[in-house]
Amino acid sequence: MADNLTQGEYFVIKAKDNGVQVIGLTRGQDTRFHHTEKLDKGEVMIAQFTDHTSAVKIRGKAAIYTKLGIVHTDE
Ligand code: TRP
Repeated sequence: MADNLTQGEYFVIKAKDNGVQVIGLTRGQDTRFHHTEKLDKGEVMIAQFTDHTSAVKIRGKAAIYTKLGIVHTDE
């Protein structure tokens, strides 16, 4: 990431159902999945965008908190 920052914005995913998937996508020319995390109902994941992760895809019912606001996947 620019200016020697190895870490980017934080975001929070709160699962509203069992089996919510948090999928990390790679930064750079090649956009592919590099990590899949499964969350069960009520579980929370706190993560950052990094040199390795430029995007995140969420599957299932969840609340996603970012600096842009809160998004609910079921609305
Ligand atoms: N090793 C990954 C990285 O540093 C871990 C990670 C960071 C991650 N943010 C993520 C995995 C978001 C999934 C979703 O990039």
